[in-house]
Amino acid sequence: MTTGMHNHNGQHDDLDANNHDHNLLGEQTLWHGRFEGGPAAELMAFTESLSFDRRLWPDDVVGSRAHVRGLAKALLINEIERDAILGALDQVETEMSGGTFVYVASDEDIHTAIERRVTELAGHAGGKLHTGRSRNDQSATGVRLWLKRELKVIARRIVGLQQVLFDRSIEAGDTYLPGYTHLQRAQPVLLAHHLLAHGWALGRDLDRIRDTMARVDVSPLGAGALAGSSLPLDPAFTAAELGFASAFRNSLDAVGSRDHIAEALFDLTMIAINLSRIGEEWVLWTTEEFGFASLDDGYATGSSMLPQKKNPDIAELARGKAGRVIGDLTGLLATMKGLPLSYNRDYQEDKEPLFDAMDQVRLGLGALAGMIATATFNTDRMQAAADSETGSATDLAEWLVVRGVPFRESHAIVGALVRSALAGEGSLRQLVTDHPRLGPDAATLVSPGVSVTRRTTAGGAGPSPVRTQLEEFRTALAGWTSWSVEE
Ligand code: ARG
Repeated sequence: MTTGMHNHNGQHDDLDANNHDHNLLGEQTLWHGRFEGGPAAELMAFTESLSFDRRLWPDDVVGSRAHVRGLAKALLINEIERDAILGALDQVETEMSGGTFVYVASDEDIHTAIERRVTELAGHAGGKLHTGRSRNDQSATGVRLWLKRELKVIARRIVGLQQVLFDRSIEAGDTYLPGYTHLQRAQPVLLAHHLLAHGWALGRDLDRIRDTMARVDVSPLGAGALAGSSLPLDPAFTAAELGFASAFRNSLDAVGSRDHIAEALFDLTMIAINLSRIGEEWVLWTTEEFGFASLDDGYATGSSMLPQKKNPDIAELARGKAGRVIGDLTGLLATMKGLPLSYNRDYQEDKEPLFDAMDQVRLGLGALAGMIATATFNTDRMQAAADSETGSATDLAEWLVVRGVPFRESHAIVGALVRSALAGEGSLRQLVTDHPRLGPDAATLVSPGVSVTRRTTAGGAGPSPVRTQLEEFRTALAGWTSWSVEE
């Protein structure tokens, strides 16, 4: 390893700013014919992408196999050459998966590294691998293959979290807690209703991934550097070989666009934001002040100094990591802005935000699912909080409405009673009992557990509509699940 080079182990040697030694590499670059001198160490250190795009190796191998078959079909290589290159790609796969692949200093990205090794292994035939191909269509193909696979992993993780929310909703039965607006107690809602609210939002996240997949599922292979080729290559053939739904229609667009990555990043960002909202609720729910839930020891952390602490770090990081994922999206959007057609090296900057967001969202989905699956709901605390008398205020107003009182008037009557109760003039129940237009019948609405049963409309928070909703969710979840596992 030469001075100033990235050593590909995630560590960087200090680059001496005054050391402008050129051609520090022993090996040839992909463009050595046109250049008299080799690349400067500073250039390689700044422009390499191997340190992060090496995870694309399986996709580069698969993409290269399809390209080789395309070359053979076009009679640009013979069968012996084809088999020699395919054999070398098999060897690369063995070395990569076994961790024995040896990188050299001139491997600026995963594509360079694999082609170099294929050429070492297959000799003259290996030199034909890159025929009619550019790293521009090659890397775009690799990222699309990777995205198709990883988006499905995210979809399965979403389904995993939805399943936990569903299971816990079934288990929750008729347990209720306060529903909030403005984070002020509003009306009681079933715990199942609350949990499923997040389940439906996650369903939309999954639907978005499904929609995005249609735009990801297009092969750019055959676009070459930007304009296609003089050689008789067939983009539709390689697209089919790779399992893409279609091939590109415009080569400039194929290598010169990243909107599918921005879109996937938005999908991931929206998931991260939804997870952060769940996280924030659990941070609140696990406080001594709320006390609605307790975390399993395996999904909580302690304090290094305060012996009594049990901290909801998963929930907090679900909240915190959403910030960086938003940064991943906005960073890529800023990178894309103003880029002329077609490929620009700026596009190499698509990968780190995409990989980071994918990793964080995948991990977050798994961690939250485990945390929620294993937590204990303190249903007494939830219900006691929901049973505060004022939670039934709307029911009292609606009781009057049914008896012909205009809602504006009934709202004022009940509002005045709540004000009196808060001023210490008696319990709301007593004030209602004594009120000439309400009385003992109306006062039964203030009893614990009654209010939540009054929410009977479709999609509402009471036991009857929630039973229907659970069945609707069960059906929807089966659909999301089957999409997430299909090839
Ligand atoms: N590592 C590069 C990327 O990810 C590969 C493409 C480089 N192409 C080029 N013409 N320099 O974008």
